[in-house]
Amino acid sequence: MRTKVAISGAGPAGLLLSQLLHLRGIDSVVLESRDRAYVEKRQRAGMLEQGTVEVLRRSGVGARLDREGLTHHGLELRFGGVAHRIALTELTAGHTVTIYAQTEIVKDLIDARLEAGGDIRFGAEVLSVDPGAPSLTYRQDGQTHTLDCDFVAGCDGFHGVSRTAVPGLRTYEREYPFGWLGVLAEVPPSTEELIYAYSERGFALHSLRSPRVSRLYLQVDPDEDIDDWPDDRIWSELRARFATHDGWQLRDGPILEKAITPMRSFVAEPMRHDRLFLAGDAAHIVPPTGAKGLNLAISDVTVLADALDAWYDSGSEELIDAYSATCLKRVWRAQHFASWMTTLLHRDPTQDSFGHRQQLAHLEYLAASTAAATTLAENYVGVAPTL
Ligand code: APR
Ligand code: PHB
Repeated sequence: MRTKVAISGAGPAGLLLSQLLHLRGIDSVVLESRDRAYVEKRQRAGMLEQGTVEVLRRSGVGARLDREGLTHHGLELRFGGVAHRIALTELTAGHTVTIYAQTEIVKDLIDARLEAGGDIRFGAEVLSVDPGAPSLTYRQDGQTHTLDCDFVAGCDGFHGVSRTAVPGLRTYEREYPFGWLGVLAEVPPSTEELIYAYSERGFALHSLRSPRVSRLYLQVDPDEDIDDWPDDRIWSELRARFATHDGWQLRDGPILEKAITPMRSFVAEPMRHDRLFLAGDAAHIVPPTGAKGLNLAISDVTVLADALDAWYDSGSEELIDAYSATCLKRVWRAQHFASWMTTLLHRDPTQDSFGHRQQLAHLEYLAASTAAATTLAENYVGVAPTL
């Protein structure tokens, strides 16, 4: 079997790359180890930068996003029992962010690719990648196959195999002494904009999914057991962390899903070896506080699609040779911002009271200074310079 671009992984990166290549007349095959139902229901991120929304619209998968996405112009920092709004749009010359779950992006991309006759093979686990041949070997229905290609896109996430095919890989990693307990609840959101809360008891985030569904997170120890967190304990802890002096109330309701995820920063360099290109979580992981993971994945494959298009169009290797460095500029900007937001807003159990007072002083500065708030805003909406 042969295709032009073999894509390992049907997450947002792999699926969007397949769509972008299709729009340029470049055929691809997407190999996904899980089944369709699993990838479409896996709850993860949901905050889209304006640039990401524009890419999805240009790629022909923006219709439902425009109907159902929630466009936001600000976010709230909550600490010391008081709410402080960061006016994202005012501080960034009109930029907005949009809430639209990555599960919905995945559904929209799968629908678009299959309607166009795209080749997505579910239950197809990539076993190995040969960046030089190039080709990849995969197992499906108990049979092992080899897929020859011109290029391999490693979009198989942090636990995928593609990264292992890059010799001499340099990795940069930071673990955090806490994780997130994520909750999907069937209850109308208690806020119109996201609330990032810093409290003595730990971090909490109130996000949204729709007028009837809320997405919330709370900081926990990374080795906590989800069975130790019955619904009433989750709601009680969230209420305590969001409490304000003016008596703001958190609505609660049936919890549809809950899970604990560890928190890490990770970058693998280079993101390219020979004819293999890494994109998305296969190459980098950011702590979710900055809402950058999905946006970085989309950005990587936008750069890769342009580079492959130039090669097929004229044989030019210029953009292909620049791929890794181009992506890593944005990756490291996002890494710094996500790590900064994470250490600003989480109670570090290994930190003394001095660290706690410093965090409060930093939060007060963000609430009082336009310059400080602008640094948060331009990174959050995705317009911070990456020079
Ligand atoms: N063979 C085939 N598929 C694989 C293999 C393998 N060996 N290993 C992993 N996969 C699949 C996973 O099942 C998953 O569907 O690769 C896909 C990787 O998708 P993601 O982990 O979502 O990674 P990516 O597409 O880079 O998206 C990254 O999107 O979900 C958000 O915020 C989240 O940062 C994350 C971002
Ligand atoms: C989400 O809605 O899942 C979300 C939003 C903002 C974040 C992290 C997660 O910083």
